[in-house]
Amino acid sequence: MAAVLQFVFNSFAPRNDVLILFCAENLKFGPASRRIVSRLGDGLRRAAAADRFSGKSGSSLDLIAPVGLDTPRLVIIGTGKDSSLTSRDLTRLGGIAMGKLAKAAAGTIFAELGSGALKADQVADLTLGARLRGYSFDRYKTKRKDDEEQAPKKVELNFACSNPASAEKAWRRRAALADGVVLARDLVNEPGNVLYPGEFARRVSALNKLGVGVEVLDVAAMRKLGMGALLGVGQGSAHDARLVIMRWNGAKRGADPIAFIGKGVCFDSGGLSIKPAQNMEDMKGDMAGAACVVGLIHALAARKAKVNAVGAIGLVENMPDGKAQRPGDIVKTMSGQTIEIINTDAEGRLVLADVLHYVNKRFKPKFMINLATLTGAIIVALGQEYAGMFCNDDKLAERLSKAGEATGERVWRMPLGPEYDKLIDSKFADMKNTGGRAGGAITAAQLLQRFVDKTPWAHLDIAGTGMGSPQNDINRSWASGWGVRLLERLVEDHYER
Ligand code: BES
Ligand code: MN
Ligand code: ZN
Repeated sequence: MAAVLQFVFNSFAPRNDVLILFCAENLKFGPASRRIVSRLGDGLRRAAAADRFSGKSGSSLDLIAPVGLDTPRLVIIGTGKDSSLTSRDLTRLGGIAMGKLAKAAAGTIFAELGSGALKADQVADLTLGARLRGYSFDRYKTKRKDDEEQAPKKVELNFACSNPASAEKAWRRRAALADGVVLARDLVNEPGNVLYPGEFARRVSALNKLGVGVEVLDVAAMRKLGMGALLGVGQGSAHDARLVIMRWNGAKRGADPIAFIGKGVCFDSGGLSIKPAQNMEDMKGDMAGAACVVGLIHALAARKAKVNAVGAIGLVENMPDGKAQRPGDIVKTMSGQTIEIINTDAEGRLVLADVLHYVNKRFKPKFMINLATLTGAIIVALGQEYAGMFCNDDKLAERLSKAGEATGERVWRMPLGPEYDKLIDSKFADMKNTGGRAGGAITAAQLLQRFVDKTPWAHLDIAGTGMGSPQNDINRSWASGWGVRLLERLVEDHYER
């Protein structure tokens, strides 16, 4: 069971719980940490030599019941060269520190590097990493495993820092972001029987407590709008589709918003073009794009970001059924363009075609960014480290790349171009919904582009990064919450005011 995490900020003073210190290469400690380790006498040098520990980035030294100190355990985490640590590095260090807490009910992290005490924002970065590393999704586990029997129900993590009050303030702002990531992870981890479109929409409605306007369109409303592509995907499911629109207005009224659109396929069986059984359970996460949009809007609203932002998510379940859509069917999108269905498993682009057009027409946004677990082909191309980025605007692409490097949620730009268009020419309609194996992620993006007009737009294919990606220092869960930190950074750096 997940422990409740509590963060406390206070000044540099050793406490009698697990103590975590940082040190740079060659065992270089900051002043407060140096006062602690000096009490070990020669013990530190001997322990470090025995473990070949010198403070290299990501390495650590673990001392149980160290003689000369009251702490039951002293953990020293190496930072490598600490002159150029970025906020991304600090977040990672916070995650590593959290991971070292193991089964302790309390710990103290000295928030300083070899070069001295961390600034308030840097302490908040550490705390963010600890919070994200501490996340686990176990609400459906009713039994504790034997080795979890002793695990505490509550964990208190103390950050010793030079200015606790301002660190606490900086964390309150960053906590909004952490909560957004956690919300996104929770949504992606939820199983399809619990989180179907109607239930998803209900959970999003809770954002109104933060001042977010939430509108939910049902099937009848979408039929009136002519969203034949989105509705075609959902028509084989016992759970009706929904379109949810979130609006956060933190800037001047009437200022053009920025818009985020998410693929929300609550379960993707493939439909009549049904998927193989192997790993089909992962397709409960085919709404990771939508989850990211919800997490982002939560994060922006919770810290009262000075921006007008729209989030829109198309929620459907893709199922085989007597009423399900067939290969060969032709659907009419809200934009008027028609699409021939070749493969009912290429459903995400159909959902997004209608939502992109709707958002563009209704809100005239400054830009649109959509996120979607759209293609297996992007995993073949990029693995699970980078998301694929398709973009019709070099400035937006550049900003996304930079925000990706800064947060560690990285994107790799992929090509778009009219040459690819002939791959989705249809014998019977304006286009077909699949283009064959070659360039599968590109032809999907090419189809989306037909629904965004001239509006600056980026499509992030997160099939590889949104779920099932390798565990790292700040995530141990199947769902990563990918994209929330990336997009929050993009907004903060370029669009607030
Ligand atoms: N949701 C899948 C893509 C996916 C695959 C996401 C693996 C995460 C992990 C998408 O709807 C899909 O089925 N795409 C097909 C498209 C094909 C039929 C053209 C694919 O990638 O195989
Ligand atoms: Mn599919
Ligand atoms: Zn899908």
